[in-house]
Amino acid sequence: MTSILLRGRTLSFLRWPETIDDHAAWRYEGDGGLLIRDGRIVAAGAYAEVEKQAGQGVEEIDHRPHLLLPGFIDAHAHFPQMQVIASYGAELLDWLNTYTFPEETKFRNAQHGRRIARLFLDEMVRHGTTTVAAYCSVHKASAEAFFAESHHRNMLNIAGKVMMDRNAPEGVLDTPQSGYDDSKALIEEWHGKGRQLYAITPRFAITSSPEQLEMAGALCREHPDLHMQTHLSENHAEIAFTRELYPQLRDYTDVYEHYGLLGKRSLLGHCIHLSEREADAISDAGSIAVFCPTSNLFLGSGLFDYQRFRSRDKALRIAAATDVGGGTNYSMLRTMDEGYKVIALNGEKLNPFQSFWQLTRGNAEALSVVEKVGTLDLDTDADIVVLDARATPAMRLRMETIETLAEELFLLQTLGDDRAVREVYVAGRAAKSDMAT
Ligand code: GUN
Ligand code: ZN
Repeated sequence: MTSILLRGRTLSFLRWPETIDDHAAWRYEGDGGLLIRDGRIVAAGAYAEVEKQAGQGVEEIDHRPHLLLPGFIDAHAHFPQMQVIASYGAELLDWLNTYTFPEETKFRNAQHGRRIARLFLDEMVRHGTTTVAAYCSVHKASAEAFFAESHHRNMLNIAGKVMMDRNAPEGVLDTPQSGYDDSKALIEEWHGKGRQLYAITPRFAITSSPEQLEMAGALCREHPDLHMQTHLSENHAEIAFTRELYPQLRDYTDVYEHYGLLGKRSLLGHCIHLSEREADAISDAGSIAVFCPTSNLFLGSGLFDYQRFRSRDKALRIAAATDVGGGTNYSMLRTMDEGYKVIALNGEKLNPFQSFWQLTRGNAEALSVVEKVGTLDLDTDADIVVLDARATPAMRLRMETIETLAEELFLLQTLGDDRAVREVYVAGRAAKSDMAT
């Protein structure tokens, strides 16, 4: 059995913090300890107490004065888009046709997929993200590459081969049958292997024929414990085209409802321009609206209505995500900084405790993985991020005038990036310092 004892200022959340003074919503230890055995947290609390349980010879790593939090969770990203990020000048549909689909054709080549999967998960870890819900390309080999790399690192990741059979170049198309067969084979090989979870992944209504959505629905029925991820209501031209393709259905959301794709593990990327009926339907199904602020700003898609979705009578479950490479940064700190601004443009505020709840426990609840990650609870997996609020000269200077934990968190969100991530533990193993730079 391998054990380590981490020392530092520990912070984790018990529930959504209603206000900045809602201290009962989080647990903070100014001198905290986490005892990790075989990749799991076996004791947590005040260092003086945890240390007593550590026993002789346990390796101790002193991270004081830094903060120890549950590793960040990214609820939506595209690993094949690492060489799409920062592509100039287009809105969604042009951006897909001009940059994204041509780039994704390269993942026919399994070796390319293996290289990018490795670099993508390096980037996740570098930025403090220990779990990501990832889209692969249409090619089965791309999902094999992603899962092999994720399994090798012992990360808890959720991923799926994209299903898409129309309105895109030949090199990124499958068929209803091959999309079903490849997904089925990948589920059998990877779902539940180590920490890997499979997500059924029809890209969006525009690139799937009714026959393909039918098959995706069949997969959901056959595997009710799996996630389903897709895109919904991101951009006006996308919505109009979807309405032309599915004129008999009530609205965009009804397309996914009709084919049995809305459930408690359905992750719906964007959800910007929903009608009240659509929001009600998503709420009734218990599905998750995924907020991707850097992407929504970059592609000029619109402003996600975070606080309204949370507070409406039929509230929505919400996750936050980078959406790399429509999104412009791998960092969940940068993501929540942009998220704060989007919410401000809607006339609301997200306080720093709410932000860090979202990045950790909130996203874990939204992804139905909170029994395993997203908290520092006993018997959960030791996925941990170590944050340094003095990581850069500008942060150090600002920290001179900061007095509260809330202010420190807000500084980390506003100026922080991968430089503020001092270490990352994946199932108890130091993964950032271990990585080739
Ligand atoms: N809609 C369908 N595919 C995509 C994608 O790759 N990125 C974004 N942002 N939206 C999409
Ligand atoms: Zn996306």
